[in-house]
Amino acid sequence: MSQGPEAWNVLRLLQWTTGYLEQHGSDSPRLDAEVLLAHVLGWPRIELYARYEYEPDPEQRAAFRELVRRRASGVPVAYLVGEKEFFSLPFRVSPAVLIPRPETEFVLTALLDRVQARGEQQQPLRIADVGTGSGCLAVCAAKQLPQAQVTAIDISSQALHIAQENARRHQVAQRIRFLQGNLLEPVAEERFHYVLSNPPYLTEAELAQAPVEVRQYEPELALVAGPTGTEVIAPLIQQAARCLLPGGALICEISPMIHQRVLGLYDPSCWSDVETVSDLAGHPRVVVAHRAE
Ligand SMILES: C[S@@+](CC[C@H](N)C(=O)[O-])C[C@H]1O[C@@H](n2cnc3c(N)ncnc32)[C@H](O)[C@@H]1O
Repeated sequence: MSQGPEAWNVLRLLQWTTGYLEQHGSDSPRLDAEVLLAHVLGWPRIELYARYEYEPDPEQRAAFRELVRRRASGVPVAYLVGEKEFFSLPFRVSPAVLIPRPETEFVLTALLDRVQARGEQQQPLRIADVGTGSGCLAVCAAKQLPQAQVTAIDISSQALHIAQENARRHQVAQRIRFLQGNLLEPVAEERFHYVLSNPPYLTEAELAQAPVEVRQYEPELALVAGPTGTEVIAPLIQQAARCLLPGGALICEISPMIHQRVLGLYDPSCWSDVETVSDLAGHPRVVVAHRAE
């Protein structure tokens, strides 16, 4: 972004930055450039298209330049702007939490499909979200099901702070209880209609192969289960068998890499109707298992 004869207007900044981020390995350089510039200008992204001729002032350009530099070094855009959209709602994120992923929306749609099929929309459902992170699943479940009482659990106190902030932002904090602890241990004596989770499921070897923005910037505690990838989900399935009401469901995001092994973890004497939901790419992404009646 050196000084040239032409003005550094929005269009030129976007064009230059797109090329720069592409060279530095971004998968979505134009989108990244737009999100960062809109953030610096305090505009909705769509406004960039209507104001291509606008010339950001030197202070705005300096702030933008700094964000672009950090993006080029691998920092995810969501951490740079402090926000990520999930199920059409903005969620605050920090490096203490995983950036919500589109595939995790399948956990929520699996829940909402079942609730609708059973005519439970207006019932005071008890729902637990294990490993809540930014709170995206807990907050969206509470938003979509106005009678539900949600319990959001995480082992990380820093993550719980972010999740609480998101619950307040979306006006559901009064129906979400936040607890720190290991899996379902803090609620071992309680019973739920649904347990949701997007647990850590990568192996250490998979993390080592992940893109730099994941490997270096997202919390390892949120990503890595252990040497085989099932170290967190295996005890979660056992604990959920005790914490679910008969007919209740455990709805878990998984990696396609561990799908077959995960299916082998549901003891048929405790679980029935174990179903897999595939993502848009056709990969097994969510397993729904029902507590035997
Ligand atoms: C993959 S992230 C999911 C975050 C969020 N639910 C989402 O889908 O974006 C996993 C979360 O589980 C938490 N976690 C890891 N081990 C845990 C454990 N043993 N008990 C409770 N939470 C745990 C991490 O701190 C992290 O926030």
